[in-house]
Amino acid sequence: MGQKILVTGGTGYIGSHTVVELQQAGYEVVIIDNLSNSNDGVLDGIEAITGIRPAFVEGDCTDIETLRRLFADHKGIKGIINFAASKAVGESVQKPLLYYRNNLNTLINLLELMPEYGVEGIVFSSSCTVYGEPDRNPIDETAPIKPATSPYGNTKQISEEIITDYVASGAPIKSIILRYFNPIGAHSSALIGELPNGVPNNLVPYLTQTAAGIRKELTVFGDDYDTPDGSCIRDYIDVVDLAKAHVTAMKRMLSETGTDSIEVFNLGTGRGLSVLELISAFESATDVKVPLRIGPRRAGDIEKIWAAPAKANETLGWKAMVPIKETMRNAWAWQCRISGK
Ligand code: NAD
Ligand code: UFG
Repeated sequence: MGQKILVTGGTGYIGSHTVVELQQAGYEVVIIDNLSNSNDGVLDGIEAITGIRPAFVEGDCTDIETLRRLFADHKGIKGIINFAASKAVGESVQKPLLYYRNNLNTLINLLELMPEYGVEGIVFSSSCTVYGEPDRNPIDETAPIKPATSPYGNTKQISEEIITDYVASGAPIKSIILRYFNPIGAHSSALIGELPNGVPNNLVPYLTQTAAGIRKELTVFGDDYDTPDGSCIRDYIDVVDLAKAHVTAMKRMLSETGTDSIEVFNLGTGRGLSVLELISAFESATDVKVPLRIGPRRAGDIEKIWAAPAKANETLGWKAMVPIKETMRNAWAWQCRISGK
């Protein structure tokens, strides 16, 4: 058996894909998830893909005693990947304390217990949201952090600072902070994918639900931006590519000597796609037409942002590989499976 890794939020969207890649790379995985935004049926999908059912603890990471029990029951955990968080930007504006409590207490508890249980490193899920509206694109890790525009975004900034301060205090741990751009798609088996709660806020689940007839039409939020076709630009990254980056990061953190105690990487493709380009990639990849209308801008949206991923490419030896049309086909296959089409 390989090294033992704790994946918090491991039945969630990015977590489940990462558990698959970790298991396929030979790691032994323990998941903790409180199922607040996922369900334990995801474990069946992971098992069907990898042939291994990961150890699963249903529990809340904001409860330090639950974590203590977990570390005592699953001795020898060497690394943590911390996905567990609340992530709905709009909800965070309505319920800021829920977001600060959940996202920050989870991280603080994990950091506090790491030295006590001999856990050497933690990979943290951050976001390109920390850059705000960039002064220029593509954006690299040295770009300034802008004031957060939502409590959710602020939890990511504060979390990065908490980790930095803790490592600087001499705590015997290492950390890799991963700033994701826009994760989309699903596993090519269509056995795991994104399970949005209620009406999706994000583009791809709204698009696939519209294509499936669950939503009447997709609204493009603004076509009067300063971009070639007027719609916003993002760096959409395939979730399996993203998952693989976590395996590489974990390997580097736990096995390579001489690396910095704390490192930050952008995880994106380096390619900016507009909303309209993404829709057209979906239509040509699947031959399915998406009813759409152009609507007003969505408050708080960033006009354009895409990653300079050179640091991750060179230092981690990781690169986004999945072509966008394949990502779109996988997203569609997953949508068809969950909506019984
Ligand atoms: P997700 O909601 O699908 O997964 C998070 C999982 O954590 C869920 O299964 C949820 O039940 C669990 N969870 C939440 N609070 C918990 C707690 N206190 N204890 C135990 N489990 C808890 O979200 P995701 O899209 O997979 O995102 C994973 C991480 O990546 C999050 O930290 C998110 O903020 C970050 N991130 C996501 C995106 C994105 O667009 N999806 C972008 C940037 C960063
Ligand atoms: N969009 C539409 N119509 C929709 C939904 C989205 O036109 O129905 C547009 C948005 O205006 C934006 C683009 O599609 O231009 C992408 O929007 P998403 O909501 O999918 O993604 P965001 O870039 O707004 O934000 C997401 C997560 C954040 C995270 C950020 C970076 O929601 O939590 O990616 O990782 F911080």
